[in-house]
Formats: sequence, structure tokens, C-alpha cells
Amino acid sequence: MSHANIRPEKVLLSVIDLHIAYGKAEVVHGLSMDVRAGEFVVVLGRNGAGKSTLMHAISGLVPKRAGTVTFDGVDLTHATPRQTVLAGIVQVLEGHRVFHTLSVEDNLLIGTYARTPHGDRSKLDAIYEMFPEMAERRHQMASRLSGGQQQILAVAQGIIGEPRLLILDEPSGGLAPMVVDRILTVASDLCRRGLAILLVEQLVEKALHHAHFAYLMETGRVVAAASSKEIGQGDLLHKVFLGGGEPVTHLETI
Ligand SMILES: Nc1ncnc2c1ncn2[C@@H]1O[C@H](COP(=O)(O)OP(=O)(O)O)[C@@H](O)[C@H]1O
Ligand SMILES: [Mg+2]
Repeated sequence: MSHANIRPEKVLLSVIDLHIAYGKAEVVHGLSMDVRAGEFVVVLGRNGAGKSTLMHAISGLVPKRAGTVTFDGVDLTHATPRQTVLAGIVQVLEGHRVFHTLSVEDNLLIGTYARTPHGDRSKLDAIYEMFPEMAERRHQMASRLSGGQQQILAVAQGIIGEPRLLILDEPSGGLAPMVVDRILTVASDLCRRGLAILLVEQLVEKALHHAHFAYLMETGRVVAAASSKEIGQGDLLHKVFLGGGEPVTHLETI
């Protein structure tokens, strides 16, 4: 991982002045952020800050009230989930959701459906090479995998479709620290191979260790945006996570 303070110039994902509401209750209030080509970006914030909502809006799972989302210059503001997948964005949802009654291999093939309706077996070998633990268990029912293996399967299912941006929403949820390290290391490796990563994570230290750039969210707003190193050293991180302190007064800019 590198902690260069200079971000790559090319903007891949751009979110501008986004407002998201559930019914009348707005939970994201004019949020702007971006992910640059080849970057590993983390979004940090307490429970309920709106992180998953933001990710769901990017992948077209929840509608936007206002604002824009563009990906590599293509407007995805009103795109359906399938259109965002076709544009190159894949989101691994919170809670390592895989299909329990299907085999590991069938779960992987599902990841290719967006582009190939009957599944594309030619992509399996590369995935098995990257995830030997999945190769060994290819014919096992997903329900027989451990929680950590299911999360790895969920990530593998996401990247088999060859996205250009992989969104991981709290991949650590309920998993042992060693498994979390494995998943974040996989994400870092994928990033080195050119895949941009957008991670939401509660394990702040681990996330900052792997990410290049970090956004800190509080109740639907970005309150800081800086290199992972700067965020890790700043007071704001502790204020946001411990709460109850003084209100955030300074807004760092990119
Ligand atoms: N489907 C939903 N319907 C109504 N409110 C929701 C829904 N999902 C999330 N919320 C609310 O939106 C806010 C942000 O939630 P969420 O995006 O899940 O936060 P985070 O992922 O940061 O924990 C919370 O107040 C939550 O209760
Ligand atoms: Mg969440």
C-alpha cells in the first residue's frame, strides 16, 4: 500500500452534491466525494452515518433525491443496478450475502450473469488461482462455508464480472481478525492490479492501513477528506467515533 499524498488525477467515480432520502427523511445531505483511477478509498463513520445508503445510491439500489453520480464520465444518476454493473461498478453488500443452497462454483457463475446470461465458465480459472480456498471447495454448498469463506466467496463473486470499481460494505462484519486481514489484503492486491476500491469499514485502523484516501462521514455529510495517513493522525477521527465532543468545526478539503 502506498500513502502518497497526491491523488491520481483521473476521476473514476464522481459523486456531486448528493441528497438521499427514505420517504421524507433525508439521510444524506449534499454529499460530494470521488474515487480516482487505481485508488483504494475508504469511507469511515459511525453506525447510521449513511455509509451504506451512499453505497446503495452509487450502485443504483436506492434512488437519489438530488445530485449526480458519474462513472468514467458516464452519468449514472438514474441508472438501474444492472446498468451500474454493466458500467463497471460492483458492490459486495453488507453481511456476505451468497446463495446458501448453491455450490461455490454456481455462486461464482452468478457473478458473470450481468454480461453473459448463462454464465461464463472461462472466468473461473483465474478466480480459483486467486482464491485457492474457493478452488478446494468449488462443489461444496455455500452454506457449509465458514463466515470468512462466505465473505471471500462474496468478494470473488463480485470481481469475477471484472468490474472497474469494487465497493465493499463492511466486509469485516462478524469475522475473525485474521480473515479480515485476508480480505483487505485481497482488496489491496486487486487495487495494485488496477481495480479501484471503495471500502466502508468499522475497523478504522485496518482500513486506513490499506486505503490511500479516506472520507470521514457524520450524519449524512463528509466532515473530512484527506490521505489515510492524515486522517489517521488527525483529531477528527476520534471526535467522530467517540462522539459527544465539540461539534466538528473545520472542514478539510481535498
Ligand atoms: N431502508 C431504510 N428505510 C428507512 N431508513 C433507513 C433505511 N436504511 C437506512 N435507513 C436510515 O438511514 C440512516 C443511514 O443508515 P445507513 O446508510 O445504513 O448507515 P451506515 O451504513 O453508515 O450505518 C440511518 O438513520 C438509518 O436508520
Ligand atoms: Mg452500513
